[in-house]
Amino acid sequence: MIGFAHAGRLLISGAARVAAFSSLVCMALSLTAQPTARATPKLAQFQRPPMGWSSWNSFSNTINSKVIESQAKAMVASGMKKAGYQYVNIDEGWWLGKRDARGNIVVDPEMWPAIAKGERAGDMSNIVRYIHSLGLKAGIYTDAGLNGCGSFYPDLGPGYPGQGSEGHYEQDFLQFAKWGFDYVKVDWCGGDKENLDPAVQYGEIARAITQAEAATGHRLFFSLCEWGKQSPWTWAPNVGGSPADIWRTSGDIVDPIVAGSKNAGRRASYQKMLGNFDKGIHPEAQHTGFYNDPDMMVIGMPGLTDAENRVHMSLWAISGAPLLAGADLETLSDATHSTLTNTEVIAIDQDALGLQAVKVKGDGFGIDVWSKRLAKPGERAVLLLNRTDAKSPIILAPVDVHWKDLGLVGRASVRDLWTGKDMGTFDDHYSATVQRGDAVLLLVRGTDAKWTSVTPRAGQSFTIKTSKCDQSFAPVQILYKNSGEAAAYAELRVNGQMPTRIAFPPSGAAEGIVWAQIQVELPSSGDSEDNVLRFSQLGGTALQVESIKIPRTGPCSVATAASAGN
Ligand code: GLA
Repeated sequence: MIGFAHAGRLLISGAARVAAFSSLVCMALSLTAQPTARATPKLAQFQRPPMGWSSWNSFSNTINSKVIESQAKAMVASGMKKAGYQYVNIDEGWWLGKRDARGNIVVDPEMWPAIAKGERAGDMSNIVRYIHSLGLKAGIYTDAGLNGCGSFYPDLGPGYPGQGSEGHYEQDFLQFAKWGFDYVKVDWCGGDKENLDPAVQYGEIARAITQAEAATGHRLFFSLCEWGKQSPWTWAPNVGGSPADIWRTSGDIVDPIVAGSKNAGRRASYQKMLGNFDKGIHPEAQHTGFYNDPDMMVIGMPGLTDAENRVHMSLWAISGAPLLAGADLETLSDATHSTLTNTEVIAIDQDALGLQAVKVKGDGFGIDVWSKRLAKPGERAVLLLNRTDAKSPIILAPVDVHWKDLGLVGRASVRDLWTGKDMGTFDDHYSATVQRGDAVLLLVRGTDAKWTSVTPRAGQSFTIKTSKCDQSFAPVQILYKNSGEAAAYAELRVNGQMPTRIAFPPSGAAEGIVWAQIQVELPSSGDSEDNVLRFSQLGGTALQVESIKIPRTGPCSVATAASAGN
């Protein structure tokens, strides 16, 4: 095994950060046939994908204290809170871009009046206190540029200029933390118009958030909203040292549909929702508390059928996506409510491994099979998806899923999560028919295929050979030691691909486990291909990566062999 040298603190300036990066210590991995005997390692704990509600989809920028109070109350009364939803996120429209002479944000006292005795009108901590009094958490919104989306695209709002935080990052994020907010979404309309570099701006913002957290002792979860324009999955995990974050991977599924307004006739679309799901799949970047965000959900809004809403929820669950409802919580139908609160489906989303599903089969005619590895050994969430909608002439499609495609061996049991029925135990595959505009979500419990253990050795780099592999993503289990008190972070680079930053929380004296999924090279000729994995520590306490494990059979047939040199 090998240790990393300290490579600088996380709270560092842009220049210092470059210096820290240049002093990275590369770690090499070597292979041994036998893993060493050791105490049972523990799965590291991370922030799960946030669950809650956002004001944008159903209220646009017509929000005020009354709207937010009613939605927060409805989150509790409807049972959403009991199912795990907790964030009440105030999106664009809460602030009209006004600042005082010292640059402090000034809000309209009529929109945000006192709620309880002794409170001052025009103070956002009033609404935060109210949300917290219900046992919920509060989210707020700004833009990385000088102006915000509401300045350029006013929708139903007044469209005032200056609704962005550029030039005020430290001041604004400190203000959000002082008001008591727990979550901040940072949009990109202003940054986009100014041609700013999102990795730089969001890095600065993450550092401002960390400073605000240190000053107030209050955690502010970071949600980046750059719509996938500059491939945020390649730079957003741990950007600026954030301990957990989410990043949007696409545009909005729907423009806001506000009852009683000129926008009431807008409709959500099944194909648009599927498109956002597809754009949100970047399994190599999703791990250890960092999540792709395919947008707030449109479940229960006009446009999708009840079956399509179940597909939507299934897709967000297998993606491990943030579950942020966009419907008006005061008017949820029974069907919408049961879709949003199915505890077994939510558990798939919130699974402790924090990984995304990968596609294990696609027929090119609208039928896909997706599999998400879950924390319990041998368990997979499997989605049989019919992407065709009501216009399709084919009503039912037969779909098979083979255990070997899921990395399982032997027999496996199957539970249908939407009907709540145990379907039995099956030898090597399961078949179902899936209606157009529908999906079948299964929990498959079987036995994991055997693993190969790969142990690091100093001064060398090593390869994992993949062969007979028709799936490009392979799961890896990373065993490490971090005896410090804070998380350590390292970049994992696979072959010549963009690196991803992985969090390694303190593991005490024992070993910790984190999981990632790597994109392996598929053999173009011959029967095997070399894959080189390298970890480079970014900062935090000293870290030792003890070994990595990769399935020997299953999705990819993996053989291992060492190669000399770096
Ligand atoms: C962008 C974002 C949306 C919402 C609006 C507000 O479009 O993608 O989620 O925040 O801005 O104007």
